[in-house]
Amino acid sequence: MAKKSAKKRITGSNGKAAIRKQLMEAAKTAQKNAYCPYSRYPVGAAALTDSGRIYTGCNVENASFGLAVCAERVAIFKAISHGEKKITALCVAAKSAKPCGACRQVIIEFASKDAEMIYLDWQPLEKKEKVTFTTAGKLLPHSFNPSEAGL
Ligand code: THU
Repeated sequence: MAKKSAKKRITGSNGKAAIRKQLMEAAKTAQKNAYCPYSRYPVGAAALTDSGRIYTGCNVENASFGLAVCAERVAIFKAISHGEKKITALCVAAKSAKPCGACRQVIIEFASKDAEMIYLDWQPLEKKEKVTFTTAGKLLPHSFNPSEAGL
Protein backbone atom coordinates (compact mmCIF):
# COMPACT_ATOMS: atom_id res chain seq x y z
CA MET A 1 0.00 0.00 0.00
CA ALA A 2 1.26 3.49 -0.84
CA LYS A 3 2.51 5.37 2.21
CA LYS A 4 1.53 8.93 3.00
CA SER A 5 4.01 11.46 1.61
CA ALA A 6 6.80 12.49 3.96
CA LYS A 7 6.31 16.14 3.14
CA LYS A 8 3.65 18.43 4.46
CA ARG A 9 3.18 22.07 3.59
CA ILE A 10 3.15 24.54 6.45
CA THR A 11 1.27 27.73 5.73
CA GLY A 12 2.08 31.26 6.90
CA SER A 13 -0.72 31.16 9.45
CA ASN A 14 1.16 28.68 11.61
CA GLY A 15 2.77 30.25 14.67
CA LYS A 16 6.23 29.32 15.88
CA ALA A 17 4.89 27.05 18.62
CA ALA A 18 2.63 25.22 16.14
CA ILE A 19 5.50 24.71 13.70
CA ARG A 20 7.74 23.38 16.47
CA LYS A 21 4.99 20.98 17.51
CA GLN A 22 4.53 19.73 13.95
CA LEU A 23 8.26 19.20 13.55
CA MET A 24 8.48 17.28 16.80
CA GLU A 25 5.49 15.10 15.91
CA ALA A 26 6.93 14.44 12.45
CA ALA A 27 10.31 13.43 13.92
CA LYS A 28 8.64 11.08 16.40
CA THR A 29 6.57 9.48 13.65
CA ALA A 30 9.67 9.02 11.47
CA GLN A 31 11.51 7.44 14.39
CA LYS A 32 9.01 4.58 14.26
CA ASN A 33 10.41 3.57 10.86
CA ALA A 34 14.03 3.44 12.03
CA TYR A 35 15.86 0.41 10.69
CA CYS A 36 18.33 -0.17 13.51
CA PRO A 37 18.64 -3.93 14.22
CA TYR A 38 22.34 -3.53 15.10
CA SER A 39 22.38 -0.53 17.43
CA ARG A 40 18.77 -0.76 18.62
CA TYR A 41 18.92 3.04 18.77
CA PRO A 42 16.00 4.47 16.77
CA VAL A 43 16.29 8.08 15.59
CA GLY A 44 13.80 10.26 13.75
CA ALA A 45 14.36 13.63 12.13
CA ALA A 46 12.20 16.28 10.51
CA ALA A 47 13.55 19.11 8.40
CA LEU A 48 11.52 22.24 7.62
CA THR A 49 12.45 24.01 4.40
CA ASP A 50 11.99 27.61 3.29
CA SER A 51 9.13 26.46 1.03
CA GLY A 52 7.25 25.46 4.20
CA ARG A 53 7.48 21.71 3.71
CA ILE A 54 8.59 19.10 6.20
CA TYR A 55 10.78 16.18 5.12
CA THR A 56 11.33 13.33 7.51
CA GLY A 57 13.99 10.68 7.94
CA CYS A 58 15.03 7.81 10.18
CA ASN A 59 18.33 6.04 10.63
CA VAL A 60 18.93 3.19 8.20
CA GLU A 61 21.57 0.66 9.24
CA ASN A 62 23.29 -2.13 7.36
CA ALA A 63 24.98 -5.45 8.15
CA SER A 64 28.11 -3.72 6.91
CA PHE A 65 27.99 -1.32 9.87
CA GLY A 66 29.82 1.61 8.27
CA LEU A 67 27.03 2.01 5.75
CA ALA A 68 24.53 3.21 8.35
CA VAL A 69 23.02 6.60 7.56
CA CYS A 70 21.73 8.95 10.25
CA ALA A 71 18.13 10.15 10.38
CA GLU A 72 19.15 13.80 9.93
CA ARG A 73 20.99 13.14 6.70
CA VAL A 74 18.13 11.03 5.33
CA ALA A 75 15.70 13.92 6.00
CA ILE A 76 17.99 16.58 4.54
CA PHE A 77 18.92 14.57 1.44
CA LYS A 78 15.24 13.85 0.81
CA ALA A 79 14.53 17.59 0.97
CA ILE A 80 17.38 18.53 -1.34
CA SER A 81 16.54 15.77 -3.80
CA HIS A 82 13.01 17.18 -4.00
CA GLY A 83 14.43 20.50 -5.16
CA GLU A 84 14.55 22.27 -1.80
CA LYS A 85 17.39 24.73 -1.27
CA LYS A 86 17.31 25.77 2.37
CA ILE A 87 16.63 24.10 5.72
CA THR A 88 15.06 26.58 8.14
CA ALA A 89 14.59 24.24 11.13
CA LEU A 90 15.38 20.67 12.04
CA CYS A 91 14.18 18.39 14.81
CA VAL A 92 15.90 15.18 15.89
CA ALA A 93 14.07 12.73 18.15
CA ALA A 94 15.91 10.00 20.10
CA LYS A 95 17.20 9.16 23.54
CA SER A 96 19.62 12.05 24.27
CA ALA A 97 19.03 13.31 20.73
CA LYS A 98 21.83 15.38 19.20
CA PRO A 99 23.18 15.36 15.65
CA CYS A 100 26.55 13.65 15.15
CA GLY A 101 29.55 15.56 13.79
CA ALA A 102 29.05 14.37 10.20
CA CYS A 103 25.40 15.47 10.25
CA ARG A 104 26.39 18.86 11.66
CA GLN A 105 28.58 19.50 8.61
CA VAL A 106 25.67 18.48 6.35
CA ILE A 107 23.22 20.67 8.30
CA ILE A 108 25.37 23.80 7.97
CA GLU A 109 25.70 23.20 4.23
CA PHE A 110 21.96 23.85 3.87
CA ALA A 111 20.88 25.84 6.93
CA SER A 112 21.53 29.46 7.77
CA LYS A 113 23.14 30.27 11.13
CA ASP A 114 19.84 31.21 12.76
CA ALA A 115 17.97 28.07 11.66
CA GLU A 116 16.41 26.43 14.70
CA MET A 117 17.67 23.04 15.87
CA ILE A 118 15.36 21.09 18.15
CA TYR A 119 16.64 18.15 20.19
CA LEU A 120 13.78 16.02 21.40
CA ASP A 121 15.13 13.71 24.07
CA TRP A 122 12.61 10.93 24.35
CA GLN A 123 12.08 7.19 24.06
CA PRO A 124 8.86 5.84 22.59
CA LEU A 125 8.03 3.76 25.68
CA GLU A 126 8.62 6.58 28.14
CA LYS A 127 6.14 9.37 28.70
CA LYS A 128 8.55 12.16 29.67
CA GLU A 129 10.44 14.15 27.10
CA LYS A 130 12.94 17.00 27.20
CA VAL A 131 13.22 19.60 24.47
CA THR A 132 16.30 21.71 23.77
CA PHE A 133 16.34 24.57 21.28
CA THR A 134 19.52 25.84 19.70
CA THR A 135 20.67 27.18 16.33
CA ALA A 136 22.60 25.77 13.39
CA GLY A 137 25.26 28.43 13.95
CA LYS A 138 26.09 26.93 17.34
CA LEU A 139 26.43 23.36 16.09
CA LEU A 140 29.91 23.39 14.68
CA PRO A 141 32.46 26.00 15.75
CA HIS A 142 35.46 26.35 13.43
CA SER A 143 33.60 24.38 10.78
CA PHE A 144 35.01 23.78 7.34
CA ASN A 145 33.95 26.79 5.29
CA PRO A 146 33.85 26.22 1.52
CA SER A 147 33.95 29.91 0.59
CA GLU A 148 37.02 30.51 2.76
CA ALA A 149 38.63 27.49 1.10
CA GLY A 150 37.86 28.93 -2.33
CA LEU A 151 35.44 26.15 -3.30
N1 THU B 1 22.26 8.15 14.59
C1 THU B 1 21.38 9.01 13.98
O1 THU B 1 20.54 8.60 13.18
N2 THU B 1 21.49 10.32 14.29
C2 THU B 1 22.33 10.85 15.20
O2 THU B 1 22.30 12.03 15.43
C3 THU B 1 23.25 9.98 15.93
C4 THU B 1 23.30 8.57 15.49
C5 THU B 1 22.10 6.73 14.31
C6 THU B 1 23.21 6.08 13.52
C7 THU B 1 23.09 4.65 13.97
O3 THU B 1 22.08 4.03 13.19
C8 THU B 1 22.58 4.73 15.39
O4 THU B 1 22.05 6.03 15.53
C9 THU B 1 23.65 4.50 16.46
O5 THU B 1 24.74 5.30 16.25
